[in-house]
Amino acid sequence: MIIIKTPEQIEKMAEAGRILTACHRELRKIIRPGISTMEINHFVDEFIQSHGAKAEQKGYKGYPFATCASVNDEICHGFPTQIPLHEGDIVTIDMVVNLNGWLADSAWSYPIGQISEQAKKLLKVTKECLYIGIEKAVIGNRLGDISHAIQVNAESNGFSVVREFTGHGIGNEMHEDPQVLHYGLPNRGARLCEGMVFTIEPMINLGSYNLTIDENGWTARTADGCLSAQYEHTIAITKNGPLILTEQD
Ligand code: MF3
Ligand code: CO
Repeated sequence: MIIIKTPEQIEKMAEAGRILTACHRELRKIIRPGISTMEINHFVDEFIQSHGAKAEQKGYKGYPFATCASVNDEICHGFPTQIPLHEGDIVTIDMVVNLNGWLADSAWSYPIGQISEQAKKLLKVTKECLYIGIEKAVIGNRLGDISHAIQVNAESNGFSVVREFTGHGIGNEMHEDPQVLHYGLPNRGARLCEGMVFTIEPMINLGSYNLTIDENGWTARTADGCLSAQYEHTIAITKNGPLILTEQD
């Protein structure tokens, strides 16, 4: 069942979103060669707490950290480590902020120093996939319209779309209905209505979309060892079009 949110509830989620985006903006400044993903994780945890909110991922289904930090071939749910990031790496930092019971969720891929042309293209196309999907998030369209637009953009650029993880409704819970696939056919799935709030979070791979899960039971990585990137926003469907609750600019 898709839980429709009132404008007041959406504003509360937007408030959580503002803390989240302020945190990502700070990350842009501190992420550089030499910093470890554990340091990033601590920064995020402190930042969120110091703004009177909670890092919702910590303890969620036993997940041990405030962020997911997925480096290079890690697709998602990477565990923060003490290993310093190196020039040329890419890292996706995913976080969920809970402010007074209302949640916002956004992941962002960051380049570490100078990265390869291939990696730059992967980041560019993956971010495009997110925004192309968001453009389709208008009243009257269907979920499949979002899914399809993302898949076409990824594949026409020679990349692949991860199947196992999807966007999701969000509100008082991190994962609500509906599931938002990042591949599929247009004109299928639930019709979009005012007050729906969900994430769009394409994970796009340089090589094939096949993945493996690490022994920690969480971390997904590409089966072929190629790079993977992800950008995620929480959006609300409004009369005036999609409202991004986690926009960073
Ligand atoms: N933020 C992720 C999402 O988009 C969830 C991470 S799973 C967790 O759904 F357990 F680490 F929280
Ligand atoms: Co999400």
